[in-house]
Amino acid sequence: MAAHLGILYRGVVLLIWAAACAAQSLNSSLFRSSGTSWKSLDLWEVPLSEVNTSSGKSIVHYGSVGYFDFCDQVEVALTYTGSVESVSIRPLSYDIKPTVSGSEITFTLSKPRNIVIEVNGDIWDVLHLLSNTPDLEAPTGNSSSVIYLGPGSHSFPGGSINITSGQTLYLAAGAVLRSTVHFYEAHDAAIRGRGFMYQPPTGGILAENSSNILIDGITILTPGGYVVTLGQSKDTTIRNLHGFSSKGNGDGIDVFSSENVLIEGIFMRNSDDNIAIYAHRWNYWGSTRNVTVQDSSLWADLAHPINIGTHGNSIDPEVIEHLTIRNIDVLDHREPQTLYQGTIALNPGDDNLVQHVLVDDFRVEDFRQGQLINMRVMYNEKYNTSPGRGIHNVTIRNLVYNGSHSNMNVLVGYNEERPITFVKFINLKVNGKLVYDTMPKPTWYMTSDFVPMYANEHVKNLTFVLE
Ligand SMILES: *[C@@H]1O[C@H](CO)[C@@H](O)[C@H](O)[C@H]1NC(C)=O
Ligand SMILES: *[C@@H]1O[C@H](CO)[C@@H](O)[C@H](O)[C@H]1NC(C)=O
Ligand SMILES: *[C@@H]1O[C@H](CO)[C@@H](O)[C@H](O)[C@H]1NC(C)=O
Ligand SMILES: *[C@@H]1O[C@H](CO)[C@@H](O)[C@H](O)[C@H]1NC(C)=O
Ligand SMILES: *[C@@H]1O[C@H](CO)[C@@H](O)[C@H](O)[C@H]1NC(C)=O
Ligand SMILES: *[C@@H]1O[C@H](CO)[C@@H](O)[C@H](O)[C@H]1NC(C)=O
Ligand SMILES: *[C@@H]1O[C@H](CO)[C@@H](O)[C@H](O)[C@H]1NC(C)=O
Ligand SMILES: *[C@@H]1O[C@H](CO)[C@@H](O)[C@H](O)[C@H]1NC(C)=O
Ligand SMILES: *[C@@H]1O[C@H](CO)[C@@H](O)[C@H](O)[C@H]1NC(C)=O
Repeated sequence: MAAHLGILYRGVVLLIWAAACAAQSLNSSLFRSSGTSWKSLDLWEVPLSEVNTSSGKSIVHYGSVGYFDFCDQVEVALTYTGSVESVSIRPLSYDIKPTVSGSEITFTLSKPRNIVIEVNGDIWDVLHLLSNTPDLEAPTGNSSSVIYLGPGSHSFPGGSINITSGQTLYLAAGAVLRSTVHFYEAHDAAIRGRGFMYQPPTGGILAENSSNILIDGITILTPGGYVVTLGQSKDTTIRNLHGFSSKGNGDGIDVFSSENVLIEGIFMRNSDDNIAIYAHRWNYWGSTRNVTVQDSSLWADLAHPINIGTHGNSIDPEVIEHLTIRNIDVLDHREPQTLYQGTIALNPGDDNLVQHVLVDDFRVEDFRQGQLINMRVMYNEKYNTSPGRGIHNVTIRNLVYNGSHSNMNVLVGYNEERPITFVKFINLKVNGKLVYDTMPKPTWYMTSDFVPMYANEHVKNLTFVLE
């Protein structure tokens, strides 16, 4: 009944024991709770991409993805196919300590979470182990408002399905949908469940000119195209989504000209920006306001974990404002091109003004290549028809970075009229050292030297404090 595809057990063989669930709802084809014995979990092969800086082409690597639901606590045992020199379970902030005995790795998960198990420092042939609680509100079949896709492979004519107002597309555990899902001028509609979308032809989910859309619990493996595109939509929730991509422009979630967006509990590993927040582009028009991204893990094999500001409307300028980014683990960032670095980038172009941004509890692990932070009011002629208007009122609290691969960080206003104003870092910690204006330092040094960060003359009211 398992609807897995491709080669299983790449690098690792996985066995799982789960505490019995209270409800009889663990009808996953991948895994069943028994309460007594070890259960094996099918793994999916996932292509991942590393850019070849000589040719610009992708070097394709393969990793594994495992998904299961449980209630209380599970023990996990893996057998690695080679000898185990080191094991890292990430995000490191979860502090999950494995026990290694020969080629067997065991650990306990005290609640469902999304983790990466990395053996011998190999960042490609890893196991992305994703989990959730069982869906106690799962529908059981089709009805006037529900399209229910049970275990097995599904696709719709033309490679896409439109979900209309009031409808829910439910992907049960073990369901594999090979079509793109489109919400167009829809309201109060959803795609949810515990199933997978596998190689949808033109990206995963598109929500355009819609409102009250819910995307919840599913896993999307798409080689190219965005995992989720949100265009000119209001009141959208994206929760517990897992998304992978491996081709150029394979962004995770792109938000254009939208208001009231809540993104939480997601795990994204993408071959371009994990999350991009813009105003106008293509046929999406208007400002972007009130976006929250929280409790999530991001791994950008290319470009930025979080990128804000590039696209807008030079003729009728827009704003991107009231953004909250909270409790995030950045697992990786690798971008050889200087213009596209920054685990968090605020890069307004096209007369965009980016303002009222709060970043709170942002933990960055030792990424491969890039910058911790890049704020630049820019005129990138590849994408923009005018420079951005500015960046104003940004608070970055509890940003922690441990690592040695960050290039010089950058805070650059465009000119006196298009500046960066009022950026405040609270409790910035780099490799265990707090960086703040009154720290012990030669009086003529700038605080930013201790990040280190280059801030130009068009940056005003930059402060570093402890709270
Ligand atoms: C799960 O399976 C059990 C036993 O086969 C069945 O009674 C129950 O209704 C199923 N639950 C769901 C949510 O499908
Ligand atoms: C990267 O590209 C160069 C130039 O095309 C090629 O010689 C090299 O083999 C490539 N490296 C990998 C690992 O694919
Ligand atoms: C529900 O309807 C869709 C088509 O609209 C079909 O593909 C699917 O198999 C149906 N589900 C069940 C459980 O019959
Ligand atoms: C979905 O809706 C769009 C916009 O109305 C339309 O162009 C497209 O043909 C529809 N696709 C399907 C599969 O019904
Ligand atoms: C902001 O969006 C959230 C949903 O993420 C919503 O609950 C809240 O009411 C919105 N706030 C305002 C001021 O509209
Ligand atoms: C969304 O609606 C607006 C009108 O409100 C229209 O200008 C725009 O073209 C629509 N976007 C798409 C993608 O159809
Ligand atoms: C600055 O932005 C925060 C949101 O991060 C907002 O609560 C606050 O009101 C803004 N301050 C000013 C002076 O606009
Ligand atoms: C950074 O290192 C400190 C001290 O070793 C540790 O407590 C913290 O969890 C680490 N943070 C990250 C994001 O790796
Ligand atoms: C902002 O910075 C300017 C100088 O760059 C200074 O004159 C002004 O007092 C500062 N404002 C506040 C509120 O700190």
